[in-house]
Amino acid sequence: MTTGIATFNFEGAKVLVTGGTSGIGLATANAFADAGAAVTITGTRSCRGDYEDNLSRFDYRQMRVTDNNEIKAVAASLDGLDVLVNNAGSVRFTGPDDDPVEVFEEMVRVHLLSGHNLAMACLEMLTASELPAGASVVGIASLTSFMANPFVPGYGAGKAGMVQLAKTQATLWAGRGIRSNCVAAGNIATRMTAPVVDMEGFSRDMMNRTAMKRWGRPKEIADAVLFLSSDHASFITGETLVVDGGYLYSQ
Ligand SMILES: NC(=O)c1ccc[n+]([C@@H]2O[C@H](COP(=O)([O-])OP(=O)(O)OC[C@H]3O[C@@H](n4cnc5c(N)ncnc54)[C@H](OP(=O)(O)O)[C@@H]3O)[C@@H](O)[C@H]2O)c1
Repeated sequence: MTTGIATFNFEGAKVLVTGGTSGIGLATANAFADAGAAVTITGTRSCRGDYEDNLSRFDYRQMRVTDNNEIKAVAASLDGLDVLVNNAGSVRFTGPDDDPVEVFEEMVRVHLLSGHNLAMACLEMLTASELPAGASVVGIASLTSFMANPFVPGYGAGKAGMVQLAKTQATLWAGRGIRSNCVAAGNIATRMTAPVVDMEGFSRDMMNRTAMKRWGRPKEIADAVLFLSSDHASFITGETLVVDGGYLYSQ
């Protein structure tokens, strides 16, 4: 019985996971660390001790993805990089007092521009990577990359942009030995989705549509990120792997 044995080896690799303090990002950071990587995570708070989870196995940087100066500062603080995971994000709904244009812009900045800007700031480090399968950029996209969700138009546009950007980066950066892919996460139980998990009717409808009839676990997204970053995926670039328990193509 081999189930559960770590099959990825990232000994010596340097990995940056944005939004690594919680949910999918934390699971991804733990999975890379378990596989031997030196992992740096980012979060919005000033230090890792400000979080309830014990984050002491990671290097920590404060980085609000809406602040381009903080993005550049994080890149400048690293002494090399092999894998960049653009994961940080949140959903903001447009409240009655909100300017929908401002909310849309913020969501596109959080989910698309930040990852682009961070990858650009890390480009020379990624180019210098000596990972056997090349360096990797992996973005955490969403089912809203493909499906309309009228409640979060900016979030969807940002997530759709990530999928397209991975294709462009794949063609631009293959010559540098960098692959760029996304994982489109389905409905995963995290802090971000906790309010929906608790909305019985809404949650039941989502699960009825999900072929596997359950919420996904953050680790199930992390495993896909490690696969795409590994030498098992050495000929995969510009691709988006949907990990959703069979939601997208169900009715
Ligand atoms: N959960 C799902 O069903 C699902 C589905 C598809 C895609 N995703 C995507 O997966 C990613 C992670 O989400 P999650 O569900 O794991 O949520 P989560 O548990 O709430 O974690 C979000 C992470 O992003 C950080 N973050 C949020 N807003 C930020 C900002 N403006 N600047 C910098 N960091 C910020 C948070 O930092 P702090 O802890 O400091 O707040 C935290 O580390 C997001 O991009 C989300 O859109 C999630």
